[in-house]
Amino acid sequence: AATTDYQAEDATISQGTVATNHLNYTGTGFVDYTNVTGSSVEFTVSAVSAGSASLAFRYANGTTVDRPMDISVNGTVVAANVSFPATADWDTWATKTLNADLTPGSNKIRATATTANGGPNLDRLRVGTAADTQAPTR
Ligand code: GCU
Repeated sequence: AATTDYQAEDATISQGTVATNHLNYTGTGFVDYTNVTGSSVEFTVSAVSAGSASLAFRYANGTTVDRPMDISVNGTVVAANVSFPATADWDTWATKTLNADLTPGSNKIRATATTANGGPNLDRLRVGTAADTQAPTR
């Protein structure tokens, strides 16, 4: 299925900085969330049609503690306290994927840290069609 990549360093960052001090990121860097509750990254995502899309967040968490985040679409939390568990180190990235309904046109997809540790380091959001979850058509 077709996918589109949105780099975190190009998104709207609230309480975070663009960084390059670890390896294996894509694009020109990644977002280092400030270690506070409520730090966030918001992507503006274009959808051609309504319905479920897959949202794949590429992240690193070089600690031993989960860095959960709320995922919202256009201001509504669609997945609360999504787990972003430890990766081997800050140079090792993993992908957390969930499905969410988008509306045709522009969508604001925000990932907000829910603990005082802030979010994980965030590299990108890859948006794809979640064909398997769509209602049958005829
Ligand atoms: C370290 C690491 C950062 C990371 C931070 C954190 O400082 O180098 O990339 O963002 O820990 O705990 O969030």
